[in-house]
Amino acid sequence: MAEISTAINPATATEAATDVSTDGATGAPTVMTSEITTEITPFSDSRDGDSCPIIHLAESQVARDTPPCAMTIFGATGDLTQRKLMPALYDLAEQQLLPDEFVILGYGRRPQDLEQFRADLAAGVREFARLKWDDRVWQWLAERIFYQQGAYDEASSFAALDARLDELGRHFHTRGNRLYYMATPPGEFAPIIENLGQLREADRAHGRGPANPPGEPRGWWRLIIEKPFGSNLNSAHSLNELLGRCFNENEVFRIDHYLGKETVQNILALRFANAIFEPIWNNRYIDHVQIAVAEKVGVGRRGGYYETSGALRDMVVNHMFQLMTLVTMEAPVTLTANAIRDEKVQVLRALRMFPSKEEVLQNTVRGQYEGYKQEEGVAPDSRIETYVALKMHVDNWRWFGVPFYLRHGKSLPQRTTEIVVRWKDTPSVLFNQGGGRVKSNMLILRIQPDECFALRVNAKVPGSGNEIHDVRMEYEYAESLDGEPPEAYERLLHDALLGDSTLFTRRDEVEVAWSIVDSILNAWKDAPPPHAYEQGSWGPQAADELIARDDHRWHRPHKHDHIVHVHG
Ligand SMILES: NC(=O)c1ccc[n+]([C@@H]2O[C@H](COP(=O)([O-])OP(=O)(O)OC[C@H]3O[C@@H](n4cnc5c(N)ncnc54)[C@H](OP(=O)(O)O)[C@@H]3O)[C@@H](O)[C@H]2O)c1
Repeated sequence: MAEISTAINPATATEAATDVSTDGATGAPTVMTSEITTEITPFSDSRDGDSCPIIHLAESQVARDTPPCAMTIFGATGDLTQRKLMPALYDLAEQQLLPDEFVILGYGRRPQDLEQFRADLAAGVREFARLKWDDRVWQWLAERIFYQQGAYDEASSFAALDARLDELGRHFHTRGNRLYYMATPPGEFAPIIENLGQLREADRAHGRGPANPPGEPRGWWRLIIEKPFGSNLNSAHSLNELLGRCFNENEVFRIDHYLGKETVQNILALRFANAIFEPIWNNRYIDHVQIAVAEKVGVGRRGGYYETSGALRDMVVNHMFQLMTLVTMEAPVTLTANAIRDEKVQVLRALRMFPSKEEVLQNTVRGQYEGYKQEEGVAPDSRIETYVALKMHVDNWRWFGVPFYLRHGKSLPQRTTEIVVRWKDTPSVLFNQGGGRVKSNMLILRIQPDECFALRVNAKVPGSGNEIHDVRMEYEYAESLDGEPPEAYERLLHDALLGDSTLFTRRDEVEVAWSIVDSILNAWKDAPPPHAYEQGSWGPQAADELIARDDHRWHRPHKHDHIVHVHG
């Protein structure tokens, strides 16, 4: 893995990466640049999950470092594999980010003809991959795809899986390294973990990777788990306990695909790679923060699943809390997985718990879109929320007194995810006299779509007089960067192969988040049903009232809403 001594401009690192030589003393390759010397240590399965920096070097180095691996996908016949995983693996292959010593074993209960399985996956790649179809790349990948039929809860099926992985591992020289991806419905997670745990124990008892020639060190095992990770604190805790019995924490990769998005990662860069924000990023200057995840679609055919989840569990406890921690966390001491996650957990711990049911009901609003009860798989008397708005506080020195307003809903007017940081008003003197015409400064971080960040500042309108208007300085990623950013699953799969868990959630993060959400869910149990809202509206009026009580209103996302654009 690459060790980076200081924050490196990725652009600089990319250019610099052309000159790779070997350090005579250590034998490790180094990258020489006019500005920095970066030592690249060979990949090792260090059990210290902290050895990986968040910023990677140029692709060429990362590609060389991607270790051999046999990857098993449980639930490989499903939607996630078809639409996300295989297209992401194809994109990685296209960029030569997968090693030759790589093999994929799809696992499922149903029988599958191998050629048909490969053809189905190819169709998914053609439709959903980010990069253009290339016969040669697919051929390379298809030769490494196999299928294994088996049950998720039978030791004999796992013994057969183990033997198959050994055989494939020998053929593809994967050195006993194994990555298991749990892409099944969450009800299957526990039996899979238990069965893998038994294999793992046997593997440890043998003291070597079964696919390795005698004398070679045994390979690593890693486990990627899809969301939802539990449905409350108890179930998340039990799952964590089970994982803890079978695996080390740094072998467990809990997916929150929001963390794989470039724009989400850019929150940290924006905050800590710029000197201008940090001094004013606190309760002295910031008035409030809004985080919104709006979806245009309803539940569609996922009504059955949604009935067991709802907006709070589906979006807030994971993705929205992750966004909030990145906005509020202190600067980590290094850009390593545990340093970053330590700071994120601190913020979650500082989230104010609602002391009573009344407090929950005062600070939260639930909504349900009209027509939800008629959706497929939905109970006719359902009380599940398809919309949620929350007012929260982070009780630490930096954020005390600053409200955080979160809202998420389905069947809203548009699909958008954004964070809005709003600074306090300027004093009522000079331009801000008599009526407060001058708007407060605002930073908008748009995560999707049209990824951008925009800063609202005030400027004088040309001409006589002192008329002030707000202008928006906008930085659009697509315009400024070369091509589309990688898909979240590309980045996350690649990181898991590299053993970098920075963008995955840690056990304590998950449990602290659930403890807050549990208190809300408990208070909602015998509360009045959710407010109805019209499909295509911005949610129930009660949500507008929630924020209006503090003299604020929700930021309505739309693209070109100011008079001057200054592109970055
Ligand atoms: N699809 C997405 O876009 C998406 C996005 C985010 C997260 N996820 C998460 O990723 C995981 C997989 O999602 P998915 O959409 O791929 O799920 P899916 O299509 O419903 O199921 C994946 C596969 O799991 C197997 N399976 C095992 N037990 C099952 C059961 N009781 N019911 C149905 N299938 C069962 C099936 O394969 P066999 O019958 O061959 O065993 C099925 O093809 C879930 O945990 C989901 O929450 C999915």
